[in-house]
Order: sequence, then C-alpha cells, then structure tokens
Amino acid sequence: MKEEKKTPAIRLKTRKETTEWGCRWWMEASDKSFHFVVYRYDDDLKTIYLSNLGVRKDKRGQGLGTRILQSVDRIAKKWKADKILLWCKKDAGVHYWYQKCGYVDFKDYKDPAYVWMKKEVNEKVS
Ligand SMILES: CC(C)(COP(=O)(O)OP(=O)(O)OC[C@H]1O[C@@H](n2cnc3c(N)ncnc32)[C@H](O)[C@@H]1OP(=O)(O)O)[C@@H](O)C(=O)NCCC(=O)NCCS
Repeated sequence: MKEEKKTPAIRLKTRKETTEWGCRWWMEASDKSFHFVVYRYDDDLKTIYLSNLGVRKDKRGQGLGTRILQSVDRIAKKWKADKILLWCKKDAGVHYWYQKCGYVDFKDYKDPAYVWMKKEVNEKVS
C-alpha cells in the first residue's frame, strides 16, 4: 500500500526562558524522524524564529522537510506572526532549498558566511 504523506502532527514542548537577548518563548518539536525549534521574543510576538531543523538522514529527500516548513507557516499564522526568520550558511545546499521554499535573504548574520533569511506570513498560508 502506498504510504500516505501527511504533514507531521506537531506536538510542541514549550518553555519560557530568559536569554541575553530578552525573554522568549521556546518551542521544540521532534519525533524519530525530525527535529526543529521555533521561538519568539516577548517584545516582538510578530516574528517567529525557526532553528535546529533536521531530518534524519535516511528520511531525507521524501518531502518531510518541506512539510515541516509548511507546518511552521501554519504555526506562524496561528500565532498571528507576520514573518519567519532563520539563518543558514550561504554556501550550503540548504540555502538554495530555503529559497525554493519561499525564504529570501534578509541580511548578513554576525558571521558573514551565514545569512538571515525571511519569509512573510500571509493569508494564503493554508
Ligand atoms: C535540510 C533538510 C531539513 C531538508 O529535509 P528533507 O526532508 O530532505 O527535505 P525535502 O525532502 O522536503 O526536500 C528535499 C529537497 O531539498 C534539497 N536539499 C535539501 N537539503 C539540501 C542540501 N543540503 N543540499 C542540496 N539540496 C538539498 C533536495 O535535493 C531536495 O530537492 P528536490 O525537492 O528538488 O528533490 C535535511 O536535508 C536536513 O536535515 N539536513 C541537515 C541539517 C540541515 O542542514 N538543517 C538546516 C540548518 S539551517
């Protein structure tokens, strides 16, 4: 039987923490196949950060990463955020992948080998 490809049912573990950049809500999602983190700061609830995204090696290339990004879009919309930010290495293949998934370069990261990328959240996210 053909395996149905569903968007992962995401259960987030949430915690509030204080960092040198301010107080933030930190939410972590994972199962045997993937892991990612989304967080946002108390003083800017409109901006969601995506971090630590990883799909297990033997599960890559099957669309799971793309479906996770779609889930992050939905999380951002649910939280009424207007943008998602992440940073990645400029010369990494994943940089191109994020572009393919709608992220655009935003500004250099503190290490210029890396770049901040941004995706606007709009009403079309389903
Ligand atoms: C990036 C990652 C999450 C993508 O997950 P995935 O489940 O393989 O993603 P999908 O199957 O939805 O998409 C795969 C597509 O992205 C491309 N791609 C993904 N990572 C790539 C990379 N590092 N280099 C080149 N292409 C890459 C694949 O070639 C494929 O292209 P296609 O759709 O034209 O076939 C996964 O490769 C991963 O965990 N990489 C290691 C960790 C990492 O780099 N995380 C990002 C930190 S910023």
